[in-house]
Amino acid sequence: MLILTKIVRKATISDMPAVLNIYHYYADETTISFAEETPDLFYFVDKLPESGERNSFLVCEEDGAIVGYAYSNYYSSSYGYRHTRELSIYTNNQATSKGVGQALLNEIINELKRLNIHVLISVITAGNEPSIKFHLKNQFEEVGFLKEVGHKFDQWLDVHILQRIL
Ligand SMILES: CC(C)(COP(=O)(O)OP(=O)(O)OC[C@H]1O[C@@H](n2cnc3c(N)ncnc32)[C@H](O)[C@@H]1OP(=O)(O)O)[C@@H](O)C(=O)NCCC(=O)NCCS
Repeated sequence: MLILTKIVRKATISDMPAVLNIYHYYADETTISFAEETPDLFYFVDKLPESGERNSFLVCEEDGAIVGYAYSNYYSSSYGYRHTRELSIYTNNQATSKGVGQALLNEIINELKRLNIHVLISVITAGNEPSIKFHLKNQFEEVGFLKEVGHKFDQWLDVHILQRIL
C-alpha cells in the first residue's frame, strides 16, 4: 500500500502557481467562490505575509504536490477588529475528504493562536454542505445567514457565517 505523507508548511512565492491552479476550478466552475473568473498570480502573491506581519499563508504538500492551501484575511481594516480573521481554505477538487483540509485547519489555527488572533470567521455559500460540515466538526458555530448577498451564474446566493473563538 502506498502511504502518502502530508506536510503543512508556510507558503512561498514559488507555491503560488499551484495555489492558483487549485483555486481555478472553484472560481471558474462553482459558486463556492464568488470570483467570476480565476484571478492572476499577483492576487495570491499579494496575500503572502510580509516578514513580521500578523498573518499566515499555509500550503499542504503531499508527495511533492501542493494539494491545498489556507490563509486568513483581515476581517476589517478597522483597528478594533485586529484580533479577528476570515479564513480561506481550499483543497484540490480531486483530493477532497482525504484529510487535507483538516491538516491545514489544525495548523492555521495553531499559527493564528500564536499570533494572538481571537476569532476566526468563515463565510460559506449556502448549499456547500461538505464545507459547513467540515467547519461544524471543527468547533465553528453558525452565527449568521445572509440572503442573496452574492450573485454568480445568473443567480442570487445566500451565505452562512460561521465563527470559532480560538
Ligand atoms: C471544505 C474543505 C476545505 C474540507 O477539506 P477536506 O480535505 O475535503 O476535508 P477533510 O478530509 O480534511 O475532512 C475533515 C472533516 O470534515 C468533514 N467533511 C469533509 N468533507 C465532508 C463531506 N463531503 N461530507 C461530510 N463531511 C465532510 C468530516 O467531518 C471530516 O472528518 P472525518 O473524515 O473524520 O469524517 C474542502 O472540501 C474544500 O476545499 N472545499 C471547497 C472550498 C471551500 O468550501 N472552502 C471553505 C470556504 S473558504
